[in-house]
Amino acid sequence: MLETRTVLNPLREGMRVARAPEPTSIIIFGATGDLTRRKLVPALYNLACDNYMPPVYDIVGFARKPRSDADIRDEYKKAVTEFSRQKIQEQVWDSFSQNIFYIQSNLDDLDGYKKLKQELERMDQERGTAGNRLFYLAVPPELMPEIVKFLGASELNHSAGYTRIILEKPFGSDLDSAVELNHLLHQVFDESQIYRIDHYLGKEAVQNIFVFRFANGIIEPIWNRTFINNVQITVAETVGVEERGEYYDHAGALRDIIQNHGLQLLAVTTMEPPTMFTPQDVRNQKAEVLRSIRPQSFQEICDWTVRGQYGAGAIGGIQVPGYRTEPKVNAESTTATYVALKLYIENWRWAGVPFYLRTGKRLPKRYTEIAVEFNLPPLMLFSKEGTDHLEPNSLVFTIQPDEGISLKFESKIPGQENRLRPVNMDFRYNSSFGVAAPEAYERLLLDAMLGDPMLFTRYDEVEAQWAFITPILEAWKQIPPPQFPNYESGTWGPKAADEFLQRDGRKWRRL
Ligand code: BG6
Repeated sequence: MLETRTVLNPLREGMRVARAPEPTSIIIFGATGDLTRRKLVPALYNLACDNYMPPVYDIVGFARKPRSDADIRDEYKKAVTEFSRQKIQEQVWDSFSQNIFYIQSNLDDLDGYKKLKQELERMDQERGTAGNRLFYLAVPPELMPEIVKFLGASELNHSAGYTRIILEKPFGSDLDSAVELNHLLHQVFDESQIYRIDHYLGKEAVQNIFVFRFANGIIEPIWNRTFINNVQITVAETVGVEERGEYYDHAGALRDIIQNHGLQLLAVTTMEPPTMFTPQDVRNQKAEVLRSIRPQSFQEICDWTVRGQYGAGAIGGIQVPGYRTEPKVNAESTTATYVALKLYIENWRWAGVPFYLRTGKRLPKRYTEIAVEFNLPPLMLFSKEGTDHLEPNSLVFTIQPDEGISLKFESKIPGQENRLRPVNMDFRYNSSFGVAAPEAYERLLLDAMLGDPMLFTRYDEVEAQWAFITPILEAWKQIPPPQFPNYESGTWGPKAADEFLQRDGRKWRRL
């Protein structure tokens, strides 16, 4: 049954809620891990605070470490206190925590999975979860294949209700491993049951790109190579690798950010309009544009990619260590913590338009944006008035923080002369809607419970992403890495990244 609530705050007009999932069991593999504490449990708790959780649900942690139900509830309460968007409300917490359970098992123990199955069936009977199951694999990538096999072997891949599986990133480590994982998944689950997370798609400002492009008449006519000169996509972080040295030293920035978040931001910005706003049509168009990214030759990879690794430095006045001295990082690591690259999309809309992507850890600001720069007007009408340089128009989607959209255009400075200066027309979520956006994981968990895969990555998208990235990884193995570290923490990356854009007669945007 759909519940409809109307919110009376005038700023929230139009924000009607009509989304209530069916009763379900959510089973978290990696229940004692970092992602579960920082993101998943706080997201579920926030959904409970906002009345989006199903009328009946249980959250079943499944992991190796011994814990009682009471232990795990305590652990999750601390996690929510520390990481949740909304503060603990005792009444909500009490009823939420009653739904949390724990099963201890090794991940390669078939008996553990059988016990899980029995418990879930018992809960279906006693609590009314109706056989609906959402498995969440919040585990390191090397454990995923095994869990998938055991879910199949214990017949947990189907049930009386729906069975869905959410997989955290990274999805494979190159094209071959991603194809292999897809193949294995498809032996146990149907693609319609599989939800591959890219949490950037759950961000409010990313979803709004669909609306901005396809619900406004003035955008699409100019959204092409005739009007757009170039696009810069930046995912800048101030954090280092924190406790994730072991994973990150194998992954690096290209796999960690560009392969997934970077290319998904690109896809949403450049896809063709879907025929209908359905998961299938939207994902068809994203997959299509991802497949149109032009593969790069070895020489182009040498010329169009820049690698960086942070050394010690200061961020916001605080001294931070260099990457090579971070915990669980090889002291001579050649892993890149910064990547900048250029790519082209070979289709009718985008041929010839350069797309510049950059990401880095330990940069001066946490900032994600997509900046679309337009061509200059064909004539310089104001040069007699002393203006011999015009700033191109740009349209910028700020994904975080301070989500919004702004358009930069030239304007006359008030006065008796015709002097020009660029100004901004700004839309900010906060001031327009007066409400904080939910966290990406909230939206994605809710969508998975509702069976809406639109904001999840389909197998062919993931493979298209790896098809572009894998040759770069392979070429980098052959090209000696630069002298690392080559940028100080708290700076905007290696000098080579600036020089790379200068060669194209451009500059990175100042953020
Ligand atoms: C994750 C990466 O996918 O995204 C992390 O593994 C990164 O290294 C994080 O820090 C960034 O996410 P957000 O939402 O903080 O921009």
